[in-house]
Amino acid sequence: MKRKLLITGGAGFIGSHVVRLFVNKYPDYQIVNLDALTYAGNLENLADINEKSNYIFEKGDITEETFIDALFQKYQFDGVIHLAAESHVDRSILDPLAFIKTNVLGTAVLLNTARKHWKGNETGKLFYHVSTDEVYGSLGEEGFFTEETPYDPRSPYSASKASSDHFVMAYYHTYHLPAIISNCSNNYGSNHFPEKLIPLAIHNIKNNKPVPVYGKGENVRDWLFVEDHARAIDVIFHQGRIGETYNIGGFNEWKNIDLIQLLCRIMDQKLGRPEGTSAQLITYVKDRAGHDLRYAIDATKLNKELGWEPSLQFEEGLEKTVDWYLANEEWLQHVTSGAYQQYYQEQYQKR
Ligand code: NAD
Ligand code: TYD
Repeated sequence: MKRKLLITGGAGFIGSHVVRLFVNKYPDYQIVNLDALTYAGNLENLADINEKSNYIFEKGDITEETFIDALFQKYQFDGVIHLAAESHVDRSILDPLAFIKTNVLGTAVLLNTARKHWKGNETGKLFYHVSTDEVYGSLGEEGFFTEETPYDPRSPYSASKASSDHFVMAYYHTYHLPAIISNCSNNYGSNHFPEKLIPLAIHNIKNNKPVPVYGKGENVRDWLFVEDHARAIDVIFHQGRIGETYNIGGFNEWKNIDLIQLLCRIMDQKLGRPEGTSAQLITYVKDRAGHDLRYAIDATKLNKELGWEPSLQFEEGLEKTVDWYLANEEWLQHVTSGAYQQYYQEQYQKR
């Protein structure tokens, strides 16, 4: 049977990889990509699938109830993969209310609309909510986040995502809305907006600009190649158990400073610079407020239950990512012109 899927946030970083995977892999599904095209959304990310007959783009805001209701009415979705969000921790520190609006209210509007349209006819429907490991808070030197780890968000971003996760489970328990959540670690790969650590560092190294490292660079993140995340979403969407949470991670922890050193070595090679040139750009700057020390995901449940595992070693994935950025100068120029400059000034000038 032809499925009708709503994917929100499909013009963003992870969303564009999910949309591409589903449009190419499931030609008999109708895929509607709903995106407000904020600074982070970019239809250039999807230029290669734009003309596919099973793909439709709708521009709109998930917080607008009437619009979302009309969209459900128009397409009669039987599945939702919800990725639309404000996603950058530093921006959430500058403007927390924007995160509460999109991430909490926007998710609640989608849940409520799905509930209304699927009421009494829930079989075969699924609301899949894409979330983050940041809802679990910050780890010390040891241990991992499992699906049982209590929520302990510390930033306005993670608090808004935690809140949205709670609403998803509330709709599952109260209204029997068929729902699944996944909580993933830090992603990297192509089409990543250069406000996040890896693409920002690639962009700055290339342009001989300082590479800002917060604090002592000792914070640890668990990095996963974005296409592996998209594959995990595919597996969970089709085979995951309703009402469950699945953690997704790369089993790949790196201290920020070690990651940046590795990136500098790769950039030296790719740009034909003498070894050690790019590392001279590393600049320690004022730490992020409330900076979580360490994230590390235990993705055993997903592996044991559904057989998913990461496909790439980090160095290989990082090289592929650098190659993409070096080959897509025009994309970088487009996204870093205009409003990006203003954000960069505000975020880094005083550090
Ligand atoms: P992103 O910022 O690159 O993309 C977000 C997309 O959502 C953009 O296309 C934007 O235009 C759209 N959007 C924002 N507000 C909207 C609104 N009100 N209505 C409709 N569309 C709107 O984010 P990303 O990094 O691709 O993250 C996608 C999802 O995955 C988010 O929910 C995020 O919390 C989650 N996540 C991200 C990571 C990561 O490392 N980036 C890790 C785990 C989970
Ligand atoms: P980021 O890519 O913003 O992801 P998140 O905060 O969601 O983990 O940051 C990754 C790590 O890199 C985090 O510990 C903060 C740090 N960081 C820097 O040191 N310098 C920077 O310029 C940025 C953007 C991040």
